[in-house]
Amino acid sequence: MSEVHHGVLGLFPDSVLVKGARLMIDGISAEDLAADFGTPLVVYCEQTLRGRARSLKAAVAGGHVAFGTKAFANVAVLRLLREEGIGVDVASVGELAFARAAGFHGEEIIVHGNNKDAALLSEAGVEGAAVVLDAPDEAGLAAAAGVRRVLVRVTLGVDADTHEAIRTGHHGSKFGLPPAQAIELVEDALARGLDVLGLHVHIGSQLADFDAQAETIARLASFAATCREVLGWTARIADLGGGFGIRHTTDEHAIDASILASSAVTTAHLAFAEAGLPGPEVWLEPGRSIVGTAGVTLYRVGAVKRLPERTWVTVDGGMSDNPRPQLYHAAYTALSAGRADEPVNERVSIAGMHCESGDVLIDDVALPAPRRGDLLAVPATGAYTLAMASNYNGVPRPAAVLVGGGVARLIRSRETIADLLRAEV
Ligand code: LLP
Repeated sequence: MSEVHHGVLGLFPDSVLVKGARLMIDGISAEDLAADFGTPLVVYCEQTLRGRARSLKAAVAGGHVAFGTKAFANVAVLRLLREEGIGVDVASVGELAFARAAGFHGEEIIVHGNNKDAALLSEAGVEGAAVVLDAPDEAGLAAAAGVRRVLVRVTLGVDADTHEAIRTGHHGSKFGLPPAQAIELVEDALARGLDVLGLHVHIGSQLADFDAQAETIARLASFAATCREVLGWTARIADLGGGFGIRHTTDEHAIDASILASSAVTTAHLAFAEAGLPGPEVWLEPGRSIVGTAGVTLYRVGAVKRLPERTWVTVDGGMSDNPRPQLYHAAYTALSAGRADEPVNERVSIAGMHCESGDVLIDDVALPAPRRGDLLAVPATGAYTLAMASNYNGVPRPAAVLVGGGVARLIRSRETIADLLRAEV
């Protein structure tokens, strides 16, 4: 790896390398991908997707890994994850439709939501999916909808070290129920004849380390022991949700998700044993740690403005394809994908093309002095980017391709202007 990249290549998918001036993804140059499919383009690396799925699956051994579909609902990607023996977590009828289209059914599916509608509950019932109960009256609604297998989501008062908008395990969260109400929900579900498989916790996303998860697991074991004492009911499953973080810039640190996953399993077994309970089957719901690093966004540079205050490099996308900088102050970096052999000799800001001053993708990045027509590659954009994309400013959402075995396949078409007008009446 040449000095000019400052370690940035380590943020890209496993199959990425630099050949001369060109960034290559699984043997195909980013310039060729951009020429063939247009920009902005989200490129997913099959090797990375399968590798992340496999190592997480191996880490939970006898447990279950369900991909958090919300990170990127895409039929081709879901199909590939299913081939790796991964299940799905869905949180709407729409996500369930993606999962079904990819071949998922029955026990492979976990259904979430802090306000599931009647359609979602009845589809879950038909499907035989496990439903994570999340409201005081939801056992009754689920039973009436034909649901048979449930878990109960509990909030145990742990503050995760992450952006407040994606923190969910604290008291006062809109998700789950605190222990006193969660135990009533377990009791109600049992009384209605539901098979209450176990308990669910999810404390947040892009977690900085394992500390908050370890504390949550300890509290979960003691809550499970209370359930056993009070209700005579034993949780067979501990679903620990998702949350493993990834690196988006070279300044960020992240522990490999498979290491965190096996820590979670070990910690859960120890904590349950200490609480006098049988070892639970551990379920995990990773989203970002499966698809995040696998995705790279390619943008074409347009206007470049060198002002006394800063240099703006404007790309052909922005907050409509990646709202994360604005929503969570998320930091990203970029590499000049067609000039990767040149020294990075200018510090610039990458602006989006939307009519808002806040539409800044990257505040500060060093690049070879940018010019109109350059191709920029932004790594670690596989999760919660296309999934959260909008049509702001009447901008069609980008295409996505899957690169594997030296071949690029379109896995989501670029929206057209006709698509934008289709819903108009
Ligand atoms: N399970 C549940 C119940 C969840 O709510 C989530 C994420 C996951 C699993 C997957 O979490 P992950 O492994 O991806 O961290 N839009 C935000 C992230 C929102 C996460 C919502 N729930 C972002 O762009 O950072």
